[in-house]
Amino acid sequence: TPPKLIDRFGRTLSYLRVSVTDRCDLRCSYCIPKGFKGFEEPENWLTFDEIDRVVAAFGRMGVTRIRLTGGEPLLRRDLPSLVARLGQHTQIHDISLSTNATQLQKHAVALFQAGVRRINVSLDTLDRACMQNITGRDSFHSIMSGLQAGKQAGFQPIKLNMVVMKGVNDHEVLKMAEYCFEQGFILRLIEAMPMGVTGQNAQFLDLAGLREELVREFNLRPAAAELGGGPARYWTTQDGRATLGFISPLSQHFCASCNRLRMGVDGTLYMCLGQEQSVPLRPLLRAGISDQDLEQVIRQAIELKPERHEFNTDKHKIIRFMSQTGG
Ligand code: GTP
Ligand code: 5AD
Ligand code: SF4
Repeated sequence: TPPKLIDRFGRTLSYLRVSVTDRCDLRCSYCIPKGFKGFEEPENWLTFDEIDRVVAAFGRMGVTRIRLTGGEPLLRRDLPSLVARLGQHTQIHDISLSTNATQLQKHAVALFQAGVRRINVSLDTLDRACMQNITGRDSFHSIMSGLQAGKQAGFQPIKLNMVVMKGVNDHEVLKMAEYCFEQGFILRLIEAMPMGVTGQNAQFLDLAGLREELVREFNLRPAAAELGGGPARYWTTQDGRATLGFISPLSQHFCASCNRLRMGVDGTLYMCLGQEQSVPLRPLLRAGISDQDLEQVIRQAIELKPERHEFNTDKHKIIRFMSQTGG
């Protein structure tokens, strides 16, 4: 077997996030601007054959986890058939999905049957008006019924992603925690990262203080189990029945243990969520590159992976919208 993918900082890359579309039916304020027009043309979307080839190559190089993202991944037609194909690579033992759940009611069972076992759902509020304010659409009922359909279909765990914004939804954290504990979902509180939109920092909330409050309120202790190999830090209640996660890229960044790469819908490989280093794979795939050369290109790309994001330094530049890489 070929050597694993290890970057210049000694990090083993084992997790690939694949965006299957840059479109979305919502316009969450921290992700994609209202009126945005710069979507990728369909002829530039990697086909399922092309995605499968890239995933196969990564599988041979030690990647074991694939997360499908968007935009909203369920807008890509026939997604379960892609899942089923990716699951045939024996190295890939974890196929997950990050979704806004608006279309989940329709697709939950097919996705589960195709091999998705765990999903992460964006849910920033339990209030219909607040949700309309954040997502730009009256999306409450479709999201909540999608979420219940996901629960019914058997996804485990279901994690809820709550981007906590000062003065927008931060007053709802306790209510969300109680709702999730009751429903058996894992709530993750997320610090908004300044992607694509300037002025984001106005709503930025440092989660450290909030974490202390919640640890006290629910008598939490650090969780023992690893829950998906991502950047979240987890805490559980004393009886171990309820889990809460914190994703704090700004106040407590986790880049030293980064294990991931991202691929955009157009086949661009991004080395870091908060940096611009990238390598376009689509032209190579369409020019008939061999498997061996593809692996070589990927190994060279890894050399470009930066040590960390620079969201909260002077060097930070606004590079792309979150919707282009799906988080
Ligand atoms: P699992 O741990 O596998 O469940 O996935 P995840 O939490 O990494 O995925 P998800 O798509 O649910 O993302 C949750 C939040 O974490 C989003 O706000 C992402 O932008 C953020 N995130 C995920 N990976 C990274 C990363 O490598 N760097 C940074 N800065 N943020 C990340
Ligand atoms: N900062 C932090 N998280 C974000 N997400 C989208 N945009 C941002 C941002 N600017 C999160 C959403 C979604 C996940 C995939 O990425 O919560 O669930
Ligand atoms: Fe990895 Fe970049 Fe995310 Fe840090 S910001 S964890 S280096 S992808």
